[in-house]
Amino acid sequence: MLTALLISVGTITAITVVLAVILVIADAFIADYGEVELTINDKKKLTVKGGRPLLGTLMEEEIFIPSACGGRGSCGLCKLKVESGAGQYLPTELPWISKEEQAQNIRLSCQVKVKQDMSIRIPEELFSVRRFKARAEKITNLTHDIKELRLKLITPDSIDFKAGQFVQIQVPEYKLSDESVFRAYSVSSSPSEADCVELEIRLVPEGICTTWVHDYLKEGQEVTINGPYGDFFLRDTKRDIICIAGGSGNAPIKSIMMDMAEKGNARNLTYFYGARTRKDLVLPDEMTALAEKLPNGQYVPVLSEPSDEDNWEGETGFVTDAAARFLKSGDNTEAYLCGSPGMIDACVKVLTKAGIPEELIYYDKF
Ligand SMILES: Cc1cc2nc3c(=O)[nH]c(=O)nc-3n(C[C@H](O)[C@H](O)[C@H](O)COP(=O)(O)OP(=O)(O)OC[C@H]3O[C@@H](n4cnc5c(N)ncnc54)[C@H](O)[C@@H]3O)c2cc1C
Ligand code: FES
Repeated sequence: MLTALLISVGTITAITVVLAVILVIADAFIADYGEVELTINDKKKLTVKGGRPLLGTLMEEEIFIPSACGGRGSCGLCKLKVESGAGQYLPTELPWISKEEQAQNIRLSCQVKVKQDMSIRIPEELFSVRRFKARAEKITNLTHDIKELRLKLITPDSIDFKAGQFVQIQVPEYKLSDESVFRAYSVSSSPSEADCVELEIRLVPEGICTTWVHDYLKEGQEVTINGPYGDFFLRDTKRDIICIAGGSGNAPIKSIMMDMAEKGNARNLTYFYGARTRKDLVLPDEMTALAEKLPNGQYVPVLSEPSDEDNWEGETGFVTDAAARFLKSGDNTEAYLCGSPGMIDACVKVLTKAGIPEELIYYDKF
C-alpha cells in the first residue's frame, strides 16, 4: 500500500518536473514576445525586446540595478517596484519579498520577465551608476585567501562614490562558467583616489568570480565593472562610531576610515576586526596606522583561535564578545557592520542589547 502510494507520488512529481522543464524550454526558445514598451518613473519610455529578465533588459539599456548573485535569485539585491505588466509572483521571488513589499508590487528584477508592456520605478540614484572599463593594475596577496585587486579606471576615467559603497565585477565566460556573471565587491580605497578602485576579494572554493580573480586574472588585463551601489556609508552625524567586521568585510570599513582621516573627522571611532589566527588578519599594520591617523580612532583586532606561534597578546574570543565588553552603553552611538550573515546577526543582538537602536545599525552581509 505504502509502496503504491510512494510510486504514485513519485510519478506525479516526475511528470510535473518534466512539464515544468518543457514549459521553461518552450518559453525560452519558442515564445516570441516581440517588442514591448518599458515605462520608467512615468517619464522615460524604452522599446525593448521582450522575453528576457527585467534585470538584463535594463542592463542592455545601460541602467544598472544592484545584484550580487548574477541573477540567480539568491541575493535579493535586485528589487524594483513594478507597477504593471509583471504577472504573478514567482516561487523564486517569494523568499525575498515581504508581505509589505508585495503590497507595494516590489519584485526581484532578475526573476521577472519582460513579456508585455511594463511600468517600473527606478530610484534616481541608480541612474548615476556607470559601466567602467578598467585595468587590473596590481593584484596583491593580503592573506592566504584574500587578494587585493587594484583597478585603474580607463573609461570613464574616474568614479564618484561614497566610502563604504560597492561595485560589481563582470566576470567573462571561462572554465567555471559558460556565461558572463556579475558579483558585488565593496571598495576598500578612498573616494579621493577617483581614478582607481581597490577591492579585497576572499576566495570561495569553486566560486565563479573569486576563482577567476585569484587564479585566472593577470595584472594588465582589462576588467569591466559597474557601480557605485549601496546605502552602506557613514551617516553625517556627531555620534560615536563602532565598526565590526570579519574577513573581507574589512574593505568598506577601511574606505570609511581613510575618508575620515583625510577629512580630519574627529568623531570617536572604534573598529573591532575578527579573525581566526594572526595569518587571517587583513593589513593589520596598515589598519593600526590608519586608526592612529584619525583624531579619535582605535583599531582592535580580535583572534578567535590564536595559535601558540601567534604570540598573541591582544583581544581573544568572538569579535561580538569583544565589542560587547567594550560597549558599556549604546548612547549616542551608531554601528557599521560588515561580514558573514551569522556574524552580523550576532552583532545586531549585542548592539541592540547595549542600547543602540536598530535603525542606527548599518550593515552589508556577505
Ligand atoms: C554588497 C556586497 C558586498 C560584497 N563585498 C565583498 C567584498 O568586499 N569582498 C568579498 O570577498 N566578497 C564580497 N561580497 C561577496 C561577493 O559578492 C560574492 O558573493 C563572493 O565573492 C562569492 O562569489 P563567487 O562568484 O566566487 O562565488 P559563487 O560562484 O557565487 O558561489 C559558489 C558557491 O559558494 C557559495 N558561497 C558564495 N559566497 C560564499 C561565502 N562568502 N562563503 C561561503 N560560501 C559562499 C555559494 O552559495 C555557491 O554554492 C559582497 C557581497 C555583497 C552583497
Ligand atoms: S536576487 Fe540576486 S540578482 Fe536578483
